[in-house]
Amino acid sequence: MAWDMGFAGKSAVVTGAGGGMGLAIARALLAEGARVAALDVKAKPEGIDDALYLQGDIADEGFVADAVARAAAAAGRIDHLVNAAGVLWFDRDKSAIDMDMSDWDRVFAINLKGAVHATRQAVPRMARAGGGAIVHFATIQCLRGDTKPQDAYQASKAGLVAFSKSIAVQFAGAHIRSNTICPGPTLTPMQARWDENPQAQARAASGIPLGRLGTAEDQANACLFLLSPRASFITGTELVVDGGRLALP
Ligand SMILES: NC(=O)c1ccc[n+]([C@@H]2O[C@H](COP(=O)([O-])OP(=O)(O)OC[C@H]3O[C@@H](n4cnc5c(N)ncnc54)[C@H](O)[C@@H]3O)[C@@H](O)[C@H]2O)c1
Repeated sequence: MAWDMGFAGKSAVVTGAGGGMGLAIARALLAEGARVAALDVKAKPEGIDDALYLQGDIADEGFVADAVARAAAAAGRIDHLVNAAGVLWFDRDKSAIDMDMSDWDRVFAINLKGAVHATRQAVPRMARAGGGAIVHFATIQCLRGDTKPQDAYQASKAGLVAFSKSIAVQFAGAHIRSNTICPGPTLTPMQARWDENPQAQARAASGIPLGRLGTAEDQANACLFLLSPRASFITGTELVVDGGRLALP
């Protein structure tokens, strides 16, 4: 028997749904019968024709307010929010001692404040609908140090973990859950550097106990679980989805 995850008739907003994990999550939610509003700065990709696609910058508070309002008007409610939009600029994000602070600010505006914008818009609507569930995407890199620092990325994602916990505690009484997924290296457009360099990709995979890199679907599976009623006693925590990478000494 199929495992009914309880998404039929529910309404979800997914940021970063123009590619990678966000797109996989939007597709999976549509397949489970949810209404999906997909936000991304990129043009609409294939495979989410049934979603309400809203193109714009997640760092722009006005865009996010308008987009979530349109999602709520179209579906009549907001039950779920997935904050998957994010950037990792391998060329410019480095030690805070050396990097350009305008890059630092932009990374924070997208990775942290963008998620805050979406959460501010979604939470009151979830409360009116009687509850809801939020999943934010951080990274395993915000739970450990890095010999090749990407300080803006790492610190912005650590902020997201803290923000998620605070929202979880503040709104538990309104039946709103908030959790963070910390992915390990995952094959998505963000890791396009590996398309040209299969050896580097194989090296990265060999450093993962389960012997492979993650896929967008691996992350989508974890996300749908955390959004679903099957996770109804889980809030304010992090789910590491990394093939065992963080468990290594
Ligand atoms: N791929 C990995 O290895 C990995 C590992 C750890 C964490 N993550 C995190 O998981 C999340 C999803 O990553 P992914 O691998 O699917 O990356 P991705 O680059 O494939 O997808 C991220 C999406 O966010 C969108 N986006 C970027 N800036 C935006 C903006 N200003 N406004 C609106 N949308 C914007 C992009 O257009 C893109 O479609 C990200 O937050 C990322 O930091 C990824």
